[in-house]
Amino acid sequence: MDVVLVGLPGSGKSVVGRRLAQRGRAVFIDLDEQIERRAGRPIPAIFADEGETGFRARERAEVAALGPAGTSSRLQRVIAAGGGAPVDPRNRWALYRGRTVAWLDGSPEVFAQRLRRSMRVRPLIAGRDPVGAVRQLGAARRRFYAAGIRLNGLAEVAANVETLERALAETSAEGTTLLRAQTAIGGLELGHGIAATTVRDVLAGLEARRAVLVSEPKAWQVAGSGLAASLARAGIPTESILLPRGEAAKRLRVVERAARELAGQRVERGEPIVAIGGGALGDAAGFLAATYLRGVPLVHVPTTLVAQIDSAIGGKTAVDLPEGKNLVGTFHQPAAVITDIAFLASLPVRHRRAALGEAVKMAVLGDERLLELLESDGPAIAEGDPAVVESGALAELVERCAWAKVEIVVADQRERAGRIVLNLGHSLGHAIEAAAGYRGLLHGEAVAHGLRGAVRIGEEIGLTPADRAGRILRLLDLLGLAVRPAEVPVDAVREHLGVDKKHAGGRLQWVLPTESGVIVRSDVPAGAVEAGLAAAIGGGAAGAGRVAVGPAARRRGAGLP
Ligand SMILES: NC(=O)c1ccc[n+]([C@@H]2O[C@H](COP(=O)([O-])OP(=O)(O)OC[C@H]3O[C@@H](n4cnc5c(N)ncnc54)[C@H](O)[C@@H]3O)[C@@H](O)[C@H]2O)c1
Repeated sequence: MDVVLVGLPGSGKSVVGRRLAQRGRAVFIDLDEQIERRAGRPIPAIFADEGETGFRARERAEVAALGPAGTSSRLQRVIAAGGGAPVDPRNRWALYRGRTVAWLDGSPEVFAQRLRRSMRVRPLIAGRDPVGAVRQLGAARRRFYAAGIRLNGLAEVAANVETLERALAETSAEGTTLLRAQTAIGGLELGHGIAATTVRDVLAGLEARRAVLVSEPKAWQVAGSGLAASLARAGIPTESILLPRGEAAKRLRVVERAARELAGQRVERGEPIVAIGGGALGDAAGFLAATYLRGVPLVHVPTTLVAQIDSAIGGKTAVDLPEGKNLVGTFHQPAAVITDIAFLASLPVRHRRAALGEAVKMAVLGDERLLELLESDGPAIAEGDPAVVESGALAELVERCAWAKVEIVVADQRERAGRIVLNLGHSLGHAIEAAAGYRGLLHGEAVAHGLRGAVRIGEEIGLTPADRAGRILRLLDLLGLAVRPAEVPVDAVREHLGVDKKHAGGRLQWVLPTESGVIVRSDVPAGAVEAGLAAAIGGGAAGAGRVAVGPAARRRGAGLP
């Protein structure tokens, strides 16, 4: 068993770690000291010579050199991580996986005082107002540290060591929590193999007398039944309701039936609904939670890549009408979203790949690292290669997309302004989906078509530089997204573009790629829209074949797998 201590500079990781290791006769590793030893010079000198980038590369190498966590039940290693080490998602995966993580929390004022007295120079703080600098680091890093057991960094060293020893005796290493955040749109916990314990803890925090698990047959098989069993073992009573699989869940009559089941079970206002499934299940169960008794608490346990990186975050719930998708719905923020990437193992390749359409969108919004990640690991993620779990690439992808969405939604919860950027690729994407009669194309696939169109419009009006456009299109080709033409009637797409809901004052607002992000424009000339439409429908470089989408394909029985 290994322990990792995390926390801000001055929180006492080295002191507590050294003492814990001494008492447990374990090896103590101070990552920063290790870096200095290997470099043959102190950290401030490394920063001076190689910048923060050089230091972080050394830190990554040192984390990787730790190798896998010790598996003995005896305490083997105690690792004090540098304050910034867990910021990098890959470091966090390598550090936290299979280890007990402890966070020395405390007030930035006291930590800053300690730093003033310390001989050690901290390059990220030196020369700045120490309290302000520590506070800023704390706000930016809290979600990474909070994944661990919280200790009081202001308490006596001996008291913390004892608390930690007690915790070690009690906790069995169940899964890896990578991120834990409380946000204005609910809690977010992300990790691998964490669902059972986290759902239990979240329900306990909500003081729920019982919970209603709402799922659909496939998600129930993959995730729901196991959760129900573990909640039963923990003594938390549950009811369960199964909705139909896929888009069929998003019907008013399905919600009515489910609401009547809730009424029959005398479910009260404080009793949470736990929505276990993909985006369709989450939209329907979210709508049920938003409207039953005018709103009961909701906990999302997303089981598809679409749901984990997108739909479970943001509070949008909806059902479909014969007239169109998502036409009836409301905003209902969940109490928590519990994202367990282990559930993705059983996801069909096509669904994985399609979800990456949304991931490309998030990257194009301005996350350079996410673009690189998709370029290096995207194809393996799409294929479901287990190596992307082992390397932490899948965890990093889910975290980057999910957190970017949290930040955008927190700034604009009810889609009044900033959230519109999330519609990149969606104006054309929705129009293509609608023109195809919502059959044959998955949402992310349609978004990929829409991205190709947005890139072309951006180029036409001089907003998207050629190299940026080329990079986005090459990535879509690499991922196998929208590479073949969408066989949809162009007139139908044109018509649906006219009724897309992202209108402001009657003019369509286009989200278009720029050199490093996006811009919203409502003055796109008709000629550019036509070019975009052609590019969206036309597919990519490899678009030699033809994919059957639309009425003709429907007659031949093509549909969602
Ligand atoms: N609310 C939002 O902000 C938002 C955002 C994007 C998309 N959406 C909605 O999300 C829906 C699409 O999401 P989706 O693709 O997740 O749909 P989905 O819920 O229909 O799931 C897709 C398929 O995967 C299966 N499945 C679920 N979990 C699985 C697992 N772990 N292993 C194997 N199979 C599994 C399901 O049974 C289903 O057949 C659409 O209805 C769309 O409108 C909503």
